[in-house]
Amino acid sequence: MRFDTGGESVAVNTRTVTKEELGRQKMFSSKVENLLSQRYQDKPLACVVTYGCQQNVADSEHIKGMLDEMGYAFTDDRQKAKLVIFNTCAVREHAEDRVFGNVGALKKYKLANPDVIIALCGCMMQQKHIAEKIRQSFPFVDLVFGTHALHIFPELLFTAMTRRKRVFELPDIDGVIAEGIPVKRDNDSKAWLPIMYGCNNFCTYCVVPYVRGRERSRQVSDIVSEFEQLVSEGYKEITLLGQNVNSYGKDLEPKVSFSELLRILNALDGDFRIRFMTSHPKDCTKELLETMAQCDKVATHLHLPFQSGNNRVLKAMNRGYTREKYLELINYAKELMGDELSVTSDIIVGFPGETYEEFKDTLSLVKEVKATGLFTFIYSPRVGTPAAEMDDPVSHDEKAKWLAEILDEQEKISAQNMKLHAGKTFKCYVVGKGKLGDNYLAARTDGNLIIEFEGGERLIGTFQNIKVIEPLTFVLKGEIEKN
Ligand code: 5AD
Ligand code: SF4
Repeated sequence: MRFDTGGESVAVNTRTVTKEELGRQKMFSSKVENLLSQRYQDKPLACVVTYGCQQNVADSEHIKGMLDEMGYAFTDDRQKAKLVIFNTCAVREHAEDRVFGNVGALKKYKLANPDVIIALCGCMMQQKHIAEKIRQSFPFVDLVFGTHALHIFPELLFTAMTRRKRVFELPDIDGVIAEGIPVKRDNDSKAWLPIMYGCNNFCTYCVVPYVRGRERSRQVSDIVSEFEQLVSEGYKEITLLGQNVNSYGKDLEPKVSFSELLRILNALDGDFRIRFMTSHPKDCTKELLETMAQCDKVATHLHLPFQSGNNRVLKAMNRGYTREKYLELINYAKELMGDELSVTSDIIVGFPGETYEEFKDTLSLVKEVKATGLFTFIYSPRVGTPAAEMDDPVSHDEKAKWLAEILDEQEKISAQNMKLHAGKTFKCYVVGKGKLGDNYLAARTDGNLIIEFEGGERLIGTFQNIKVIEPLTFVLKGEIEKN
């Protein structure tokens, strides 16, 4: 536990990994480095494969940071790697099946190359029944560790390399916060910055609260210093991550709200854009929407998943809001930010017991919200969640038809949305070369739309005002606005 840090808000119930513990991991990191230099002439290669959400992408960047420190270089080719690590996702069955398939495919490679280490980590591995299945059915896997053991990866890897026994590390705790783990980022202009971990919501379909532990917020000063570091390294788009960013700071004393954090970051010097995800409608406040509208560096993009448009289903999902409350938030956001606002959402189709009539309410909400983009999923039962125990009479094929209805509708909405942008000017970040022709560059709007325009490569990595001249199907065509 961390107390008195000179007046700052501190987490009083969260275990923060101490500097001494992290120092111990540095020692294991050098031990691995020594072993590697004895075993291999050149830097051995590591292949890090990531499944699932942005939090996993962020975790994998820390795994790569630790591996880099241990003396590994990197490859995307599993068959060239001396270490293959899968950072897994447990949110839907499909993601789990892919992991099992891909791990199985490594069996031959491992048998032919016994010095190769196969490691599995992340949300799926935090579940006991999965770890047990790996233990029984995949004897060639050397190391399995859950989400709460990420910061001790150097120690676990050293043990797996030096001991003849397989290593399974699944601490049954509510989670920790570890500051100062090395990081190796995938992109040099776009960065992920977790501001909190875990989830306390227990939506009845969701496995996340069981595998990611309780909500815990990083201290403002730690977030600000990482943010400033990113800006000084030239990062232009920084996405704040949390399962439910609207709960940020509730566990700190004195409390800090997510809006306050946004205002602090918005006031920092530099040319950058702040994004955030995910917001939960239950905790999304009018104050947050006003903050988005008022802070010039905060993108006017709101990822606010509604999951269902039917109040009975929302209640059965334990979402804590109604369709009406959701619409009130969206309408207020539109009032404040007008055409600048871009809304995206997640939807689950075929929750246990959902009828076609109830599903129709989701379809009608899709029509009302007119989102820029939707992430749609067919319900997938997850071991240990309340929904997995509920009657689920509708067939998967039927649910797939419902999903297709939503996708059809959203396609029409997206085409209409694109047309509405004709003639408008957006502040965009120029991300790289475009696809429409040799001289074209691609730029991203606040709402994550891509506009392509003709321009010289020196504009890559800058913000430009770009006017839309022609909406195409998936991209907008534009030109730099003349003053
Ligand atoms: N089945 C289908 N979709 C799910 N999601 C979470 N759990 C499940 C599940 N059991 C979806 C939700 C969430 C997104 C990240 O994944 O829509 O917002
Ligand atoms: Fe899962 Fe609900 Fe938490 Fe999101 S808010 S991670 S859907 S339990």
